[in-house]
Amino acid sequence: MSPRVVATVDLGAIRHNLGQVRAKAPKARIMAAVKADAYGHGAVPVARTLMAAGVDALAVACMEEALVLRRAHVGGQMALLEGILSAEEAAMAVYEQLDVVLHDHWQIELLHALGPTAQIRVWFKIDTGMHRLGFPPEDVPRLCQALVDHPRWQFAGWITHLACADDLDDPFTTQQLARFTAALQGVPGPRSIANSAGLLGWPQTHADWVRPGLALYGASPISGLPAEQLGLKPAMTVESRLIAVRTFEAGETLGYGRHFTCPERMPVGVVAIGYADGLPRAVSSRAEVGIQGQRLPLAGRVSMDMITVDLRPLPHARVGSTVQIWGPGLPAEHLAAAANTIVYELFCGLTQRVRFQHRNP
Ligand SMILES: Cc1ncc(COP(=O)(O)O)c(C=O)c1O
Repeated sequence: MSPRVVATVDLGAIRHNLGQVRAKAPKARIMAAVKADAYGHGAVPVARTLMAAGVDALAVACMEEALVLRRAHVGGQMALLEGILSAEEAAMAVYEQLDVVLHDHWQIELLHALGPTAQIRVWFKIDTGMHRLGFPPEDVPRLCQALVDHPRWQFAGWITHLACADDLDDPFTTQQLARFTAALQGVPGPRSIANSAGLLGWPQTHADWVRPGLALYGASPISGLPAEQLGLKPAMTVESRLIAVRTFEAGETLGYGRHFTCPERMPVGVVAIGYADGLPRAVSSRAEVGIQGQRLPLAGRVSMDMITVDLRPLPHARVGSTVQIWGPGLPAEHLAAAANTIVYELFCGLTQRVRFQHRNP
């Protein structure tokens, strides 16, 4: 049985991208974001690769994600970016030796309830303008007091998250940086600000720890700047196959809603990938796929299991030909733009129907 859609993850490309990150922020420690199954790339193999390549810590969103990695014997420093959500998770964080990123006082209470002997590493997240999670800057003195009150807690540092670093012209990043700096004036402890966009586009945000995610997977976090120009290599290639090659007369239409009308007699390829595999329906007729290095436009709507492509540029393509959906030479960023979304969503949106393989462990 041959799989319809294969995602090949090149772990060597992830190591290369880590090298680029290191070169950009040589003085900072690296907390690599492997949440959401390593942005759809496979949390366990990616985390093992990154730890072996010497990242200083991993970051996951929640306890479930951390446990997947711990069960796979991924050790080392690992941060829960959303912190702990219950007393049970507080106890588990201690047991599994996880760093907790605390963003509200009720989370401090959960840790406090573990008693004075509990040893845990904590980060405090300060909200400098993202307005999702985080303590307001004026809470910093109270947070410092919490550390004094809990001498067994190990303090990892202060975190904030950037809202607009992908736009190099947006002054909000500088404003967030200024708020963070002002809130922590004279306060000891490591600082962490930069996501991938901060890391690559805003050197003043590097601080003590950088927290790259997307850049490690080889996609560009900065609008208008291709990954290649940033020295990044796409780690994931998604491929399918031509399962039919048909010829239609001028005026015939393709697929649901008859969205595409053949302007002339033309060959059409049917490719075994659809929205049930994670190819957004919104890309219909606006994206390109690749066969033998040739780019071919989609013709008609994406359906659940199939797409149709205009084979006029490659009339001799055969059933069984490999069709590249994204990967080196055909950046996922293009497809994301065609779907009016971001590459993060494409990566995370691949479904269980896609067969994953990992190269260069
Ligand atoms: C708190 C935090 N830090 C770092 C990251 C990594 O971001 P990116 O993938 O843009 O580098 C994320 C991802 O959303 C995050 O939520």
